[in-house]
Amino acid sequence: MTARIIDGKMIAARIRAQIRVENEKRLQMGKQQPGLATVLVGDAAASQSYVRMKHRACEEVGFQSYGHQLDENATQTEVETIVRTLNDDPKVHGILVQLPLPQHLDENAILDLISVEKDVDGIHPLNIGRLAQKGREPRFVACTPAGVMVLIHSVVENLSGLNAVVLGRSNIVGMPVALLLIAEDATVTVCHSRTKDLAATCASADILVAAVGRREIVKADWIKPGAVVIDVGTNRVDDPGSKRGYRLTGDVAFEEVKEIAGAISPSPGGVGPMTIAMLLKNTLHSAQLLD
Ligand code: GUN
Repeated sequence: MTARIIDGKMIAARIRAQIRVENEKRLQMGKQQPGLATVLVGDAAASQSYVRMKHRACEEVGFQSYGHQLDENATQTEVETIVRTLNDDPKVHGILVQLPLPQHLDENAILDLISVEKDVDGIHPLNIGRLAQKGREPRFVACTPAGVMVLIHSVVENLSGLNAVVLGRSNIVGMPVALLLIAEDATVTVCHSRTKDLAATCASADILVAAVGRREIVKADWIKPGAVVIDVGTNRVDDPGSKRGYRLTGDVAFEEVKEIAGAISPSPGGVGPMTIAMLLKNTLHSAQLLD
């Protein structure tokens, strides 16, 4: 039987609509307009496009957004000065430094500087650390992982005791997704480039989250029949026939996997819109906490 398609675009649109209504109520009460600041260093096309989408989404729900674009050769001090200024700016409730940063910059030092109270990206070590500890709550959960969990919950209510396999252990996706799954009592295996038998490990998964950035690496014979598959990958593939010269494809071989899985979130069109919806949600939450 063909898998149920998890429609991230539609779920994200519904969340954005709720945020817009909540924000309207907030503004009618005379409260401050939520403000998101982005910091983009360099001119990588993908990062520029992501940041543009984030600003457009802010406008759509009635938030203010502030874009800071720095040259590829910006110095550590220049970037840190902007982050410090944004930390002190009362109009700014959320700060997002778009990753990856150019190689010459010390990414950890920059992320450490972001005020935990404005870390709407949820990737400050304090927020991740809180996520990893029992009995603690992060102020913000990282946006892509939070979006992944909403997609999973659109088809499975209770994750307790389920086998979850996460492909990838990145700071912004794989690791926080694993922590969120553990927090919901799933039994979690995290796979990476040194994992010996990826196919067999994946075949044990009731829930499979693919976030390795390898084009269509997940094949149909890696999938337990009926599993929930969330594709986080967005890989560029040359496509001379298309207007942009490339197309995007996920980490999952969608056409074959959908014949085995019980539910699948495709990429593109699944997790991507959820990341932005979660960013807006975190920004509104931040404004509420800072009121
Ligand atoms: N680059 C790709 N995804 C993300 C994200 O979620 N946050 C930031 N800051 N950079 C990214």
